[in-house]
Amino acid sequence: MANILVTGGAGFIGANYVFYHMKHHSEDLIVVYDALTYASNLKSLDSLQGNANFCFVKGNILDYDLLVETMQKHKIDTIVHFAAESHVDRSIKTPDAFIKTNIEGTYNLLKAAYALWVRDGVCHGHFHHISTDEVFGTLSLEDNAFNENTPYKPNSPYSASKAASDHLVRAFVHTYNLEATITNCSNNYGPYQFPEKLIPLAITNLLDGKKVPIYGDGKQIRDWLYVEDHARAIDLVLQAKLNDKTFNIGGRAEKTNLEVVLAICESIDSLFAQNAAYKEQYPQAPCANGKSCSEFIYHVQDRPGHDRRYAIDPSLSEKELGFKPSLDFKKGILTTVKWYLDNESWWRDLKARTIDFSSR
Ligand SMILES: NC(=O)c1ccc[n+]([C@@H]2O[C@H](COP(=O)([O-])OP(=O)(O)OC[C@H]3O[C@@H](n4cnc5c(N)ncnc54)[C@H](O)[C@@H]3O)[C@@H](O)[C@H]2O)c1
Repeated sequence: MANILVTGGAGFIGANYVFYHMKHHSEDLIVVYDALTYASNLKSLDSLQGNANFCFVKGNILDYDLLVETMQKHKIDTIVHFAAESHVDRSIKTPDAFIKTNIEGTYNLLKAAYALWVRDGVCHGHFHHISTDEVFGTLSLEDNAFNENTPYKPNSPYSASKAASDHLVRAFVHTYNLEATITNCSNNYGPYQFPEKLIPLAITNLLDGKKVPIYGDGKQIRDWLYVEDHARAIDLVLQAKLNDKTFNIGGRAEKTNLEVVLAICESIDSLFAQNAAYKEQYPQAPCANGKSCSEFIYHVQDRPGHDRRYAIDPSLSEKELGFKPSLDFKKGILTTVKWYLDNESWWRDLKARTIDFSSR
């Protein structure tokens, strides 16, 4: 049995991870520690209220005393660290919060874990750090995909702050004997993602009859992984009881941004064609008015320093963890689109908190 502190558990991947973990390891205690920033939605965790093995603490990872108090109170022996500022566009506009949370916040957590777990050079806990493929920088079409030995070359304040946090985790392992692992994952998609990110932004804009902005020519390539598969990969790492190990996690699904948005358009068009009730619920949507969603795509000025291609070589996680994505991209997108269609009450109020970066 483990007592797990999940930082950032009211955010997109954190919440999906909590569901996955509680479903597969119901004996463990999960304590979600989250500052509830603009990107969070406590509603995501509503279904867990009342579960004796779940508890929520509103707290900032920059608050060292509250972290230590929470860890002591719940006898935490595992940290799964998702909490971060995570939107590249925001990192270009307001980088300060990224430096604070992603670097200083991770440092605070590491310091708390070290203070409570390491005695006489022996670590009595495990720290798992969630990171991104963006730390490796950008690839051309001909380059090999990122593997665990690819040098770090971050290009945005977001990826630079995540790179710094990865280095801090490694330093705590080598300097202070903290036990830790890191996963660098490609782009996630699925339920409960804040509607400022590409996929939920495109879905919710289309349902409201609004256009979908695409940066530049839309040919930037990302690898995509369904969020529940990411949760499973993290679980595999934790169950393997490893130390000082990094895995690249990916979906073997490289797509251009334009391909992603076209797949969303196709899914919305087909779901509306199958169920007339959606036309009543979303009367502004293009397909409620005899149009195809793809007519609502438009191109805007590219983001500064926009990386052209990210790609993950997941061979090591396949070989050593037996990890394979369970959903292919087409099925995953259809599932995701359907979730947003059926869960308007989850995202409707969040739309008001989003910033439109395309009009910069
Ligand atoms: N979304 C992706 O595609 C992706 C891909 C690879 C890695 N990651 C990494 O996964 C992690 C989770 O990403 P996400 O997309 O779920 O992010 P998110 O923005 O949806 O959620 C982040 C959560 O962290 C919380 N948080 C932010 N600052 C905090 C602080 N100072 N103290 C406590 N809580 C704080 C927020 O309230 C929010 O609930 C991040 O570390 C991100 O870098 C994301």
